[in-house]
Amino acid sequence: MKDNINSENLPQHIAVIMDGNGRWAKKKGARRVFGHKNAVKAVRDVTEASAELGIKYLTLYAFSTENWSRPKAEVEALMKLLVSTIRKEVKTLVKNNVKLQSIGNRDDLPKGCQRELAEAIELTKDHTGLTLTLALSYSGRWDIVNAVKDIAHDVKNGKVDPHDINTNLFSKYLSTDKMPDPELMIRTSGEMRVSNFLLWQLAYSEIYISPILWPDFRREHLYEAIIDYQKRERRFGKTSEQVNLLND
Ligand code: IPE
Ligand code: IPE
Ligand code: MG
Repeated sequence: MKDNINSENLPQHIAVIMDGNGRWAKKKGARRVFGHKNAVKAVRDVTEASAELGIKYLTLYAFSTENWSRPKAEVEALMKLLVSTIRKEVKTLVKNNVKLQSIGNRDDLPKGCQRELAEAIELTKDHTGLTLTLALSYSGRWDIVNAVKDIAHDVKNGKVDPHDINTNLFSKYLSTDKMPDPELMIRTSGEMRVSNFLLWQLAYSEIYISPILWPDFRREHLYEAIIDYQKRERRFGKTSEQVNLLND
């Protein structure tokens, strides 16, 4: 499977909506939290495989703004799991030259989480391999509204002339400013929606929906998604003929 991947045409940035933990647990007659615990294995495998392939950016949707509305016990269990996972996995990140970062409203997270995350980010900040971005208390609308606030502030301070506001400048105010937009977005568990993920950044992403529930997702499934991506024709509004002319 891995041999069928064209290393010349890898996406630089893969974004994943890790979905289906609850259903995975339910199928096993277990509680939802059991699904979240088993999700960590998938995160580890996909991160390792991405680093090995030479993918530059992997962004994982781990907790949305809307997920705060889940039952309190589930939210608490997820936050605890986040702390223990970062603590356990940081060694592997160091070993694999992975740089960790996060996007989302970090202030919303419990203090312990914020501390653990900040430490791991600091420890891996000079790594030059894969950049692993965890989207935590993240939503696309939050990101856009934040960008608007910051731009408004800079306009008020005279740093930005309203005439200079364009898509390029706007992108620089988003939480993903240092990253290219994802060429490939994967969602697991067969769900066909964006659920307030990277709304701006997904404008031209290729979308791949996998039926696999996230705790069962492994590197082979990632390879399948990349191979599928490599078969697509990305037209960016142009005609197929124009695209083929450019490629000749
Ligand atoms: C994804 O799995 C994990 C989070 C959103 C935190 P879910 O918990 O959404 O699992 P399902 O969709 O209920 O199966
Ligand atoms: C999206 O999954 C958020 C994450 C994977 C973190 P959800 O399970 O929360 O999405 P909906 O509610 O089914 O749209
Ligand atoms: Mg879900």
